[in-house]
Amino acid sequence: RSAASVRIVEVGPRDGLQNVKFPIPTPTKLELVDRLHKTGLTSIEITSVVSPKAIPQLADCRQVLGNERIKSLMSDSTLRLPVLIPNVKGLDIAIASGVREVAVFVSATEGFSKANINATVDEGVARARLVAQKARATTLSVRGYVSCIFADPYDGPTPQAAVLKVVRELLDMGCYEVSLGDTVGVGTARDVASLFEYLRASGVPLSKLAGHFHDTYGQAVSNVWQAYQCGVRVFDSSVGGLGGCPFAPGAKGNVATEDVVYLFQQAGVQTGVDLMKLVETGTWISKELNKANESRAGSALAIK
Ligand code: HMG
Ligand code: MG
Repeated sequence: RSAASVRIVEVGPRDGLQNVKFPIPTPTKLELVDRLHKTGLTSIEITSVVSPKAIPQLADCRQVLGNERIKSLMSDSTLRLPVLIPNVKGLDIAIASGVREVAVFVSATEGFSKANINATVDEGVARARLVAQKARATTLSVRGYVSCIFADPYDGPTPQAAVLKVVRELLDMGCYEVSLGDTVGVGTARDVASLFEYLRASGVPLSKLAGHFHDTYGQAVSNVWQAYQCGVRVFDSSVGGLGGCPFAPGAKGNVATEDVVYLFQQAGVQTGVDLMKLVETGTWISKELNKANESRAGSALAIK
């Protein structure tokens, strides 16, 4: 029997950088992806192809995707390098750049959907379906995201049935996995246990779900562990705890990848990631962005 393992989806280059307010040079973004790859991470979301008005920071996505080093990583079939895509326009750019995996995203709730993609939930689902259909016809893999699984920054608490509805839609359109996002970062372990149990009891296989926890209330590591106890084996995280969304005001970064790797390493659960190389990467990118390292494990291990 092989040892227990989890898969970590590093979203630092996309979720981590998308809300940084000053311009980050494209070479820094490229070096971030390269350093993350060298830690042993095999799933790295490298950018998004969205409206540059919505997310000015990632307006250089074509340069990132056209880079030789990125192209050589994209040709490695052992890696998953998803690119976040809101519509067919973005998909066409991704396909032209040789991208092999895309991520589509919908909200469980109306307020965030309107703010984030200027569409209702149903319109967002329809757009994601068009992207997923065309992507799959071109043999791309498609990952799905649901935002606002516990609460919406504008509408308040999210009914579990609203999450179930969009999870089913994303699986039905061919997403191989659906990542459940606590966009505002308000959920606690009890909420995680309740939602995953509800989805399982409603017939959603836990093997198709991932956890995507933002750390606004300091609950993200606890939420990862609770989801693991429920049977989830895939987790999104950002090196250095980077992250946030301009359309979820006040939300903090993703759970830090260093903290997740430390958590699982101490539990004897394999991640395939070299923790010290990850810590170096978190220290480096925090300095590049002139900000404090939001990873507790990263900060502690960096001064050892
Ligand atoms: P819109 O203004 O309603 O639509 O935006 P539009 O079609 O009129 O497009 C506006 C402009 O953007 C046009 O340019 C388009 O050409 C251009 P203009 O004619 O004005 O010069 N455009 C594009 N450019 C490049 N790539 C594209 C693209 N599409 C249009 N793909 C739209 C609607 C969906 C495009 C916009 O609202 C958008 O891009 N939203 C994305 C916002 C975003 O990226 N949010 C963060 C990611 S989601 C997230 O962080 C949550 C997650 O982490 C999980 C969690 O934590 O919950 C995933
Ligand atoms: Mg997010």
